Amino acid sequence: MVKKMEIKNLSKIFGKNGKKILKNLDAGMTKGEILKKTGHTVGINNVSFDVKAGEIFVIMGLSGSGKSTLIRCLNLLNKPTSGEVFIDGENIVEYNRKELQKFRQEKIAMVFQHFGLFNHRSVIGNVEYGLEVRGISKMERYKIAKEALEIVGLGGWEDNMIHELSGGMQQRVGLARALANSPEILLMDEPFSALDPLIRRDMHLELLDIQSKIKKTIIFITHDVNEAFKLGDRVAVMKDGQIVQIGTPEDILNNPSNEYIEDFVKDIDRTKILRAKHVMKKVGVVASINTSPKVAIKEMEDVGTSSIFVVGESREVLGIVTIDDCLEAIKNKESIKDILRDDFVTTHKETYVQDLIPMAVNSKFPIVVVNEDKKLLGIILRVSVLASLI
Ligand SMILES: Nc1ncnc2c1ncn2[C@@H]1O[C@H](COP(=O)(O)OP(=O)(O)O)[C@@H](O)[C@H]1O
Ligand SMILES: [Mg+2]
Repeated sequence: MVKKMEIKNLSKIFGKNGKKILKNLDAGMTKGEILKKTGHTVGINNVSFDVKAGEIFVIMGLSGSGKSTLIRCLNLLNKPTSGEVFIDGENIVEYNRKELQKFRQEKIAMVFQHFGLFNHRSVIGNVEYGLEVRGISKMERYKIAKEALEIVGLGGWEDNMIHELSGGMQQRVGLARALANSPEILLMDEPFSALDPLIRRDMHLELLDIQSKIKKTIIFITHDVNEAFKLGDRVAVMKDGQIVQIGTPEDILNNPSNEYIEDFVKDIDRTKILRAKHVMKKVGVVASINTSPKVAIKEMEDVGTSSIFVVGESREVLGIVTIDDCLEAIKNKESIKDILRDDFVTTHKETYVQDLIPMAVNSKFPIVVVNEDKKLLGIILRVSVLASLI
């Protein structure tokens, strides 16, 4: 994976003498002490992390922990007090006015919590705005804006006014506006926090779906741990301006780095976070459709199971055979094809464990994880799913 962004030792202190106050921070004074003694507010404190091209990197933390300050340093809406922000290898902190303008127009776009739309403009008028500022012709920008609206599922709403739209739809307009500039990086500061929970859930799915098509590098901010773990390829947890832990949702769930994180994740419903790919096992041994029942039994013996999946030439799953059926088949001179069973369930690697539970309950066999071509990726033992219930 290519590193899209590299943030190194970034600090932001609000107040007149931010740079001077840095020394106190380096000497170990806390955010609270600095505020009390100097009247300066520590926004972020010596933050470092990388973001890979095409990932959703979530920054999570309680209100006031420095999330917005940090994300605003990434497009220099906030000027960092110290540190570096490399994007595609260039330290944007050193950009001059012109370079910065180009960077903001071409490479990065932001979606805000309160949408930040123009109420007196139509839907398409809002989406076109950035293109208009850049002097793109009327016809061209209409075309681009219309495409962006299609991507977010608002095709047909071009001429409506903003107030005619629900909150969720308004935020889709915000997203379309950001996408219209075809940025490589999307900054999203609590974009769904103002929406009610049901709409939020739709928006999560929508965002994941859109991202699977557009594959941008996304920095997503939230104070909601469930939202963070649902959306994030990786999550950084912030506290008092510092990053406490960075990792994949599974990493953080399984190895919280300290009590603070433990506290954060203790109420999380793992079945809503973990997916098939996290609990599946790679299958070493499968039986070929052209093999004999005798060989199939041998293979079951090798791996210590009483059933085995049968695959075709390109490892597509054709069925499952049991040891009892194989024994019977040997007696009756039948082939694997004759005893192939189809009473097993298949799923995709992105399915949430929550949705695997009913499958595991109702199935005698492990759940099979396949890709779009029905090729076998792995199997999920029923116990791996059902154990999450206790
Ligand atoms: N413009 C500002 N001036 C002074 N202090 C600020 C400013 N913006 C944010 N802060 C302070 O910086 C800290 C982090 O704030 P913020 O980044 O907005 O947190 P979050 O987005 O995680 O809620 C808070 O203590 C906040 O009061
Ligand atoms: Mg904020």
